[in-house]
Amino acid sequence: MKSAAGPGVCVDLGCGKNKQPGCFGVDAVLLDGVDVVGDLSRGNIPFRTSSVRGVYCSHFLEHLEDPGALLKEIHRVLVPGGRLFLRVPHYSNYAGFNPAHRSFFGQNFFDIYDPDTDLGKRFDYFSDEKFRIVNKELRLFKTWKLPYTYLLQWLASWKPAAYECHFAFLSPAEEIYVEMEVLK
Ligand SMILES: C[S@@+](CC[C@H](N)C(=O)[O-])C[C@H]1O[C@@H](n2cnc3c(N)ncnc32)[C@H](O)[C@@H]1O
Repeated sequence: MKSAAGPGVCVDLGCGKNKQPGCFGVDAVLLDGVDVVGDLSRGNIPFRTSSVRGVYCSHFLEHLEDPGALLKEIHRVLVPGGRLFLRVPHYSNYAGFNPAHRSFFGQNFFDIYDPDTDLGKRFDYFSDEKFRIVNKELRLFKTWKLPYTYLLQWLASWKPAAYECHFAFLSPAEEIYVEMEVLK
C-alpha cells in the first residue's frame, strides 16, 4: 500500500503479523509487531481526535459486524486531509466466506461516504463522516492467467459496476483497494 505523508502517526488496524512499516499496530491478538492489543469491534480506536495522519486496514474490516462504526472512529482520529488505506476481499472471492468474516464488500461500498459520488449524493444523510475517494481498484484473481481474465480486469477497472453485474462470477475479484482522504 502507499504511504501517508505529513505530520502525525500512522496506525495499522488489525495488523496481525503483517504490520505496515513505521505504523503503530493494533490487533485483538498479541502477535509480533502488535503495539496495542485491543478489540476494535466496538469502533474504539485508542488514539486522540485528529492525531493520526494515516490509517491502514488490510483484510481486517470484513471481520467486523459493523464496519461503519469503525469508519466513524477512523474519521475521528485522522487529521484533516489524513488518509485511509483499505484492502478488503471482494464478495466474489471464494475465500471471503469463512467463519471469521462478518461483512462483505462490493466495489461501491465506500462510495456512500464520498459526497461527490452518485451514492454519496443520493444518500447524503447516511453518515456525517465524509471521505473523498482518491483511488479505487478492483483486483481480479491472477492465479490462472486465462486470456479473458485480462479483458475482464480491464473492464473491472473501466466499468466496475458492469463487471460486477455481468462477469464477477465468471472471473472473480480477489480484493478491493480503496484510498480515501478524510473530509473534516
Ligand atoms: C486476515 S488478518 C489480516 C492481517 C493483516 N492486516 C494482513 O493484511 O495480513 C485479520 C486480523 O484482524 C484481527 N482482528 C479480528 N477481529 C478483530 C477485532 N475485533 N479487533 C482487533 N483485531 C481484530 C485478527 O486478529 C487478525 O490479525
